Amino acid sequence: MAILFKASVDNADLWRQEIGKRLPDVDFRVWPDFGDPAEIEYLLAFRAEPGMFSRFPNLKAVLATGAGVDGILGEPDYPRGLPLARIVDDWMTNQIVQWVVHAVLHFERRFEDYAAQQRRCEWKELETWSERVPRVGILGCGEIGGAAGRLLAAMEFDVAGWTRRPRDLGPIANFAGEEGLIPFLRRSDHLVCLLPLTEATAGILDARTLAELPRGAFVINAARGRHVVTEDLMAALDSGQVAGAFLDVTDPEPLPPDHPLWRHPKVLITPHVAGITNPYTAAAQIAENIRRIRSGEPLLNEVDTRSGY
Ligand code: GLV
Repeated sequence: MAILFKASVDNADLWRQEIGKRLPDVDFRVWPDFGDPAEIEYLLAFRAEPGMFSRFPNLKAVLATGAGVDGILGEPDYPRGLPLARIVDDWMTNQIVQWVVHAVLHFERRFEDYAAQQRRCEWKELETWSERVPRVGILGCGEIGGAAGRLLAAMEFDVAGWTRRPRDLGPIANFAGEEGLIPFLRRSDHLVCLLPLTEATAGILDARTLAELPRGAFVINAARGRHVVTEDLMAALDSGQVAGAFLDVTDPEPLPPDHPLWRHPKVLITPHVAGITNPYTAAAQIAENIRRIRSGEPLLNEVDTRSGY
């Protein structure tokens, strides 16, 4: 049995070590040195190579090394019926939740403005009071969005979550479906995108939807760059409709050095690091899923390959 590991940023030696601890008999190969393609039974990857799937006739499953699987399902030759699992890991969820909370607090508590004041040696209280508590809208309230929303609700933000279908989100008010989207946007002073990227969600934040936010809202994206139509976001920032954007993801990635987003005064960028997969914690799920396939049991965190999450 051979596993093929294919990644650009992940550390192959660390993954080999952590998988090997749990499955000592495993033949761990690293792309592009995969040897005989007929021996490859499992693919570990965040993003597939074009035409990759047709090369491995005996694949039993794809075990994504990330939470989002758009980089796998985006390949047109993904074989129908090939099982796919994603990572759902407390460590990674906590990382993303911390990033989101940081971004909300950054804008809400005006840390950018205070940093600018410090550069001018200016001691001045800025207005942060208002009649009502700030409203956060979490677009996509699954494992990660739900955890971020619950923490923000515990911090006394007024939190709502938008989901495709109605769901009980506990302390988070739920807005669902097409008809819930506009009312949800209209009450989002901080809009946090944590959606999976699918055909239905690509470009969801465009001129039309950004215009529904309260004037001066903030846009926070820790999902995928393609959820946002970049030109529309920049226009909304320039007009003051959106007061600031905190982006962990961009379209394209990496963002080219001459891209105007880098230098936009109202934009903060981190290079897709809000939730990096931790092999020390995530390898257990991969090993468990291989064990499950070998014994014919259902996968943990299996993705519905038609809906894309
Ligand atoms: C990161 O973006 C992931 O999907 O794990």
